[in-house]
Amino acid sequence: MNTKSAYYTRTAQFLHWLMALIFISAWIIGFYSGNFLSYETDGAFKGDVITLHKNIATTILFLVVIRIFWRYTHPAPQLPESMSAGMKTLAHFGHLALYFMLLALPITGCLFSWAAGHPAPVLYLFNIPRLLDTNPEIMAIVKPIHIYLSWAVGLLLAGHILAALKHHFVDKDTVLLSMTRQPKP
Ligand code: HEM
Repeated sequence: MNTKSAYYTRTAQFLHWLMALIFISAWIIGFYSGNFLSYETDGAFKGDVITLHKNIATTILFLVVIRIFWRYTHPAPQLPESMSAGMKTLAHFGHLALYFMLLALPITGCLFSWAAGHPAPVLYLFNIPRLLDTNPEIMAIVKPIHIYLSWAVGLLLAGHILAALKHHFVDKDTVLLSMTRQPKP
């Protein structure tokens, strides 16, 4: 007998939507700075926007540790029977890839900042202790990794959101609701 709830716990739901909000905001701000601002024309404003990007994005590093702990101690609801084995495998690897990105984006972002000689600040409160000295060679490696990963995660997020909407509006199953509702008592 399957004793798993069809819904995520309230804590899992809270972490999911909080991290979605932070991650997508950080992504939009980073993309805006990287592709629409330059030091030549925007000067200090670009610096302020990057600082905002970092102060928001570093919180993901702390939240993802809590999230992974919670995921291991509170298993996810089962996917609907109506999904084919192939689609379930795709969903599984998609979720693994998203967890990987939740770690890889902030880690490469911090390495990028430190290698460039800048801090990795958190919510304008404190800096993450520096694990790397200023290093142009490392900077030349981690900068493109951070940027390429950010584009890849943009595609992955778009796929994730479209899949959730398809479950809700086309398949009419409980996958999206499992992240928004609790079972009736
Ligand atoms: C939640 C995790 C993060 C996401 C989703 C993210 C996303 C992005 C994106 C989309 C860009 C623009 C890429 C482009 O040029 O097309 C970017 C650039 C950048 N990110 Fe992140 N990032 C994250 C975490 C961090 C962290 C933690 C730091 C540093 C502490 C950081 C530092 C930077 C810097 C310095 C840039 C370059 C901005 C510029 O050149 O104007 N990022 N990031």
